[in-house]
Amino acid sequence: MVSFVGDLGFLYKANLCLRTALKILKPIHTARVQDEDALYKLFYEFPWEDYLDVDSKFVIDSVVHGTRFTHSQYASQKAKDGLVDQFRDKYKERPSVDLNRPDLRINLHIQQDLCTLSLDSSGASLHHRGYRTATNIAPLNEVLAAGLIQLSGWKGDSDFLDPMCGSGTFLIEGALMAANVAPGLIRSETIGYAFERWPDHNPRTFEECLENARRIGAETRTAAPTPPVIIGNDIHPGAVTLAGQGSETARVAGMIDVFRNDCEMFNITASSAGAKIAPNAPKLVVTNPPWGKRIGAGEPAGRRRAGPGDYDDEYGDEDSFDRDTTVGSNDISAEEALEQVWNSLGVFLKRECPDSSAFVLSGNPEVSRAIRMRASRKHVVGIGGVDCRLLRYDILPPKPPGYAPRQRLEERD
Ligand SMILES: C[S@@+](CC[C@H](N)C(=O)[O-])C[C@H]1O[C@@H](n2cnc3c(N)ncnc32)[C@H](O)[C@@H]1O
Repeated sequence: MVSFVGDLGFLYKANLCLRTALKILKPIHTARVQDEDALYKLFYEFPWEDYLDVDSKFVIDSVVHGTRFTHSQYASQKAKDGLVDQFRDKYKERPSVDLNRPDLRINLHIQQDLCTLSLDSSGASLHHRGYRTATNIAPLNEVLAAGLIQLSGWKGDSDFLDPMCGSGTFLIEGALMAANVAPGLIRSETIGYAFERWPDHNPRTFEECLENARRIGAETRTAAPTPPVIIGNDIHPGAVTLAGQGSETARVAGMIDVFRNDCEMFNITASSAGAKIAPNAPKLVVTNPPWGKRIGAGEPAGRRRAGPGDYDDEYGDEDSFDRDTTVGSNDISAEEALEQVWNSLGVFLKRECPDSSAFVLSGNPEVSRAIRMRASRKHVVGIGGVDCRLLRYDILPPKPPGYAPRQRLEERD
């Protein structure tokens, strides 16, 4: 958790502009509570009328740590009882609970006996940027993708590549960063923010924040009329479609080219984006290859190669998908299939990305070895309870003209 102090406009700005935050909470009270009865009493006595009336809808999200409180749902229940009993005892009526579209989302955080009440100013998690056009489940959420790009140190100063782009999260987040576009702008037109239903919401201040964010994006476009080239590729046609749709909705389609290939066969120079980039110019690669979340251990081995079929649940069925182009004819295990994919990635990186850095996410060291390159850095990242690594590979520059490997020279002698 990161904390900061600011006014209402700053809270709006934080929601609009922070790329790696999931929620912006506004603490309103802290107290020590020893047990459930004390928690009930705290909620019964707190001046909720400053925030709610009997017609309001609310919800309480709880996070508990420590030994005193062990069940977050029970804590929410006790807190809710205290809150509604306060209104019922005064007015014989009470505000109601609404899980989906409450007027007020209350966050209750208990660390041992220290209880913090906050107003959740965001509502739905901020990874819901509002640019996903399909209801696919992206393996990486947008906030995580932005965080991994930030970890790579990219500042929009080189061309950007994801050879296994799936629905294009890295591409879109990268484009938003390079164009200095606030990640929450589209959301403001679609899902919106919880603070818009607060009694003290100031629409004028919010509009000023939106205007500012738009102006910064426009100024960046003027100052840097040639943004970095952002290239995506995926073997699955459904992924390519989703990446295209997402980038349209995020209004960065003009910055992104997406291709459909097995990455081992993907030749950037020969593609329609080839003319836009210098062949040997250093690029930044950020990618999330399959590492066995769905097709790893536990799934029976079979005649298969990790590829589009493994993502049909997310990308939907595509009639145009020709299984035979990607499903190998060999009898191989799921693990071997994954190794083939990582091996293809290694081949692609060495051939197409000389002198570049690649940041590759892995949750499975067994399969990532098949990339056949030594990682120069391993960032530890925990994702959904899985111990992952963001592996950095520094790819060698192209060989100088006339270069011959030492062994061959010796052979000639
Ligand atoms: C974990 S997903 C990537 C998800 C992506 N980061 C997103 O935001 O949606 C892995 C992707 O690798 C693709 N893939 C698997 N084998 C491939 C190959 N040989 N060449 C290119 N793409 C491949 C899959 O189709 C899938 O979309």
